[in-house]
Amino acid sequence: MAQDTLTIIDNRTQQTYTLPIENGAIRAMDLRQIKTGPDDFGLMTYDPAFMNTASCRSSITFIDGERGILRYRGYPIEALAAQCTFLEVAYLLLFGELPTEAELTRWASEIAHHTVLHTAIEKFMEGFRYNAHPMGMLVSTVAALSSVYPEANDIHDPENRLHQIVRLIAKAPSIAAIAYRHSKGFPCVHPDSELGYTENFMSMLWKMAEPKYVANPVLARALDTLFILHADHEQNCSANAMRSVGSAHTDPYLTTAAAAAALAGPLHGGANEAVLQMLDEIGAKQNVPAYVKKVKAGHGKLMGFGHRVYKNYDPRAKIIKQTAEQVFEVTGRNAKLDIALELERIALEDDYFIKRKLYPNVDFYSGIIYQAMGFTPKMFTVLFAIPRVAGWLAQWQEMLNDPEQKIARPRQIWTGPEVREFAPLNKRASAASSRET
Ligand code: SDX
Repeated sequence: MAQDTLTIIDNRTQQTYTLPIENGAIRAMDLRQIKTGPDDFGLMTYDPAFMNTASCRSSITFIDGERGILRYRGYPIEALAAQCTFLEVAYLLLFGELPTEAELTRWASEIAHHTVLHTAIEKFMEGFRYNAHPMGMLVSTVAALSSVYPEANDIHDPENRLHQIVRLIAKAPSIAAIAYRHSKGFPCVHPDSELGYTENFMSMLWKMAEPKYVANPVLARALDTLFILHADHEQNCSANAMRSVGSAHTDPYLTTAAAAAALAGPLHGGANEAVLQMLDEIGAKQNVPAYVKKVKAGHGKLMGFGHRVYKNYDPRAKIIKQTAEQVFEVTGRNAKLDIALELERIALEDDYFIKRKLYPNVDFYSGIIYQAMGFTPKMFTVLFAIPRVAGWLAQWQEMLNDPEQKIARPRQIWTGPEVREFAPLNKRASAASSRET
């Protein structure tokens, strides 16, 4: 009967090794026994950008890139997006089960009572320049929360951890709203604990002189659905940052700030802002073929296209595209949608993109919806970060509870010089002249 093992012959020594295969993987540490002699460190794996390296075991989010499948704790994203609220999904990600009605009521009340920011944090945010990028404000302010809650350092106490998790999920929208109001020169609006999570966020964003903000139910539902779609996504760049920084037992605020910093990159969560810049650059539907030609010639990328894991249509992009139509019925159609649809139509027929399995990802249509709702492009990645706080914290907690995990510290392949004799300052020829001789 076939064994779940891998037999390796080291042709340098004619030695044979048999390694166990578990969950479709071999343990990299099992390679270290493969040596050419007693002084040999042993074999490592070399995997820049972790293209083919599992860093952990996880039961939070499952993705099948070839089939375009995404599930949170086993539930298809399509069912969760259609039937849950974001807080329900955040509970699922963190606790592993969908909440009962009583659990959800208690969870929502807990979150609602932690949305207020310490005045020291509000004053901290007033210090940013008027044109500060909201992601810079978010990353810095989440880190600053660490200075207000020093007890968060005790990451081994589950109750204390949960308290910080609730604070972070609750305060992310409050920080985001102040960043938005700051960019507009508007005074900040305090949270209204009578409103739901997303409606309260909209109130903190857009309430002006009215006694109580009333959110448009279609827009509130659309934003809540977008939060669900952005809540987690397995071991992406920012989740990896969360796990890596968290593995040093850094407090959850500084760790979440590190993850948010990774998300800000234009190849990751910053892509939704970059998509709008790309659509603005294209300008009109008739300019799409020329833009696609430029990308195929290697000049830039189609932002919002492609994915490390999905080699099929990102299931989130499909749902976002449907959500766009509902939003536009309220806000009026965003002209950029026609450019985006034409870009998708041409790209999906073009062999360059087909061969590379490049499809629209979560960022391709989300920005168009956010812009139609009234958000400026600089806010788009902040809107990605708010729900992803729940996913990052679920990944962080799973890492802390995993007995196999320890401080993350990869190895390297040395390509530098062998040992060199030290040269005192007055004996150093410049690198240029020594190259000439
Ligand atoms: C997110 O990991 C996650 O799960 C992330 C995320 C999440 O929810 O956390 O899903 C969110 O980050 C979505 C991705 C958003 N980023 C973008 O839309 C930026 C544009 N996309 C690309 O930069 C790229 O597709 C990545 C970064 C998303 C994936 O890059 P990979 O897996 O490293 O692929 P690659 O760069 O090795 O590309 C393979 C080939 C290359 O061509 P060749 O060298 O083989 O000729 O495909 C080309 C690339 O040039 N390519 C693209 C392209 N993406 C890849 N060509 C044109 N346009 C693109 N968008």
